[in-house]
Amino acid sequence: MSRVLALSLLLLFVTTSVRSGYLEFDQDVLIPEDWTDVGRLDPSEELQLTFALKQQNVALLEETLRLVSDPDSPQYGKHLSLQEVASLVRPSELTQKAVRGWLQSHGITRCLAVLTQDFLQCSMTAAVAEALLPGSRFHRYVRDGVSSVRSSAPYQVHDDLHQHLDFVGGLHRLPPRGRDAGGSRRRSLAAGLHLGVTPAILRERYNMTEADVGSAQNNSQAVAQFLEQYYHPADLAEFMGMFGRGFQHQSQVARVVGTQGAGKAGLEASLDVEYIMSTGANISTWFFTNPGRHESQEPFLQWMVLLSNMSDLPWVHTVSYGDDEDSLSAAYMARINAEFMKAGVRGISLLFASGDSGAGCKHQDKGQNCFRPSFPASSPYVTTVGGTSFKNPFKMSYEVTDYISGGGFSNVFEMPEYQVSAVKAYLKSVTESLPPQSYFNTSGRAYPDMAALSDNYWVVSNRVPIPWVSGTSASTPVVGGMLSLINDQRLLQGLPPLGFLNPRLYRLQGQALFDVTEGCHLSCLDEQVQGKGFCAARSWDPVTGWGTPDYPALLAALRSD
Ligand SMILES: *[C@@H]1O[C@H](CO)[C@@H](O)[C@H](O)[C@H]1NC(C)=O
Ligand SMILES: *[C@@H]1O[C@H](CO)[C@@H](O)[C@H](O)[C@H]1NC(C)=O
Ligand SMILES: *[C@@H]1O[C@H](CO)[C@@H](O)[C@H](O)[C@H]1NC(C)=O
Ligand SMILES: *[C@@H]1O[C@H](CO)[C@@H](O)[C@H](O)[C@H]1NC(C)=O
Ligand SMILES: *[C@@H]1O[C@H](CO)[C@@H](O)[C@H](O)[C@H]1NC(C)=O
Repeated sequence: MSRVLALSLLLLFVTTSVRSGYLEFDQDVLIPEDWTDVGRLDPSEELQLTFALKQQNVALLEETLRLVSDPDSPQYGKHLSLQEVASLVRPSELTQKAVRGWLQSHGITRCLAVLTQDFLQCSMTAAVAEALLPGSRFHRYVRDGVSSVRSSAPYQVHDDLHQHLDFVGGLHRLPPRGRDAGGSRRRSLAAGLHLGVTPAILRERYNMTEADVGSAQNNSQAVAQFLEQYYHPADLAEFMGMFGRGFQHQSQVARVVGTQGAGKAGLEASLDVEYIMSTGANISTWFFTNPGRHESQEPFLQWMVLLSNMSDLPWVHTVSYGDDEDSLSAAYMARINAEFMKAGVRGISLLFASGDSGAGCKHQDKGQNCFRPSFPASSPYVTTVGGTSFKNPFKMSYEVTDYISGGGFSNVFEMPEYQVSAVKAYLKSVTESLPPQSYFNTSGRAYPDMAALSDNYWVVSNRVPIPWVSGTSASTPVVGGMLSLINDQRLLQGLPPLGFLNPRLYRLQGQALFDVTEGCHLSCLDEQVQGKGFCAARSWDPVTGWGTPDYPALLAALRSD
């Protein structure tokens, strides 16, 4: 009795004495070493912050996503418009008032809202931002000529606001390094005579014919880039000139959303756009780049904000972007998941590359390591694409694991219903060869969902054809283009687009996909696992998912209903 009383007195004391608290207490705020601190911001300098207001009906949103994506549900394909999504999730009047009142009390009035009213982007001086968010200290950091403004310390918000905000964006989370700046996996040409993967090779391997091109009126697809990268229209035209024979295609991007920089094109950006337009041939393609980038913006978050403000969007988006799951706050990831659900209920398919570090590795205390899942690849609300190579690189042979293919089990998100039986069957069938249980979490969302070739691509970048480009950022647009073609056939028949694919994909049980059963991906270089993560196996596995598309079979399986 007295202990209970003491405890409640203590709680009372704590809640009344602490006026502010952390929204993202578990967010990694360390600035990676490759960024140089060039000093504290002058108090009068301008910055921009993104406020993620608490949404209403998130559980209902999730249930709606399940119903519109489950082929057995009478609601299947009954997607919502952005307006309908807005009526569902729009923050309560109380929340909107509380947040605006709080901002106004600090003199912050220059804010832009989105159609769903759940994000506010506001401009203010560094002095005002630091007063608004106790603990924050804004510095400017530079890497490879790119500068970002971030806080060197965690921020707090007044307790009264906790029930109204998910997080504040623009203080942490610096963009990871792109492939041009050292992340590249190009190999030496001396390795062999192989001509490498081109659109013709992909179309042949996946059984696509000349007739498999888009023709529906308002179909479109998109690639999104967040690493200050842009593509060069001349590269795309040259690529299609060299490799676009044998199928009708477009050689120009239909729409660039955001401002393309000037200077050199990025290899990543060139790769994405060249390959989504090769499988998703003759389909209008959009390119999302860092829109009007401000130093304090998080480019990925900026893209999510934009999706909530555009009612007319392509049906398929492919994204090669990821962070270590353990570096991100639970609040941030939960909210990004809600954003993925918002896209899914609209019938939009989001495809993420599974990453290029296999199972990944996190070095923990006392020499004990564990695997390191990456987000958004580990999100239950997106389709994650892994990578394969040809068994015999000189021939159109069958596919095996590309050892870099990202995969594994989330430590944050529970395994979604749609994959439980597939993952359980895998775990049961490979018990003997599984890595030690201390390295991963069998109750988490397992990924990838499917795969495609990710090795030895030809890319034209800065007018130069470059061979041996590899990574799951190649396989992702390849799969994206094929889903767009299937959408095309559905739209021609007056059917809704595929939307969030996973529930339907797992229902196929591997039908219409080439099962990849050979090879393991990489992981921790330690004595216990010696660089080996998971291995491919019959049916679903956490290296290549269900396998790679047999296009005509996949079309047949997904074109109707
Ligand atoms: C969202 O779109 C509206 C209307 O086009 C615009 O006024 C507003 O500034 C946009 N919001 C953001 C955050 O860009
Ligand atoms: C599809 O491709 C595979 C492998 O490339 C091949 O074995 C199979 O015969 C093809 N099927 C059809 C219908 O073309
Ligand atoms: C290419 O797409 C356009 C519509 O964007 C369509 O009119 C044309 O028929 C398509 N080409 C082929 C070969 O289907
Ligand atoms: C659909 O077509 C209209 C009219 O051509 C165009 O403005 C719009 O951008 C298209 N939407 C998409 C998502 O491609
Ligand atoms: C394992 O994953 C679950 C979610 O599926 C999570 O709740 C739990 O904390 C995770 N365990 C560890 C040790 O990370």
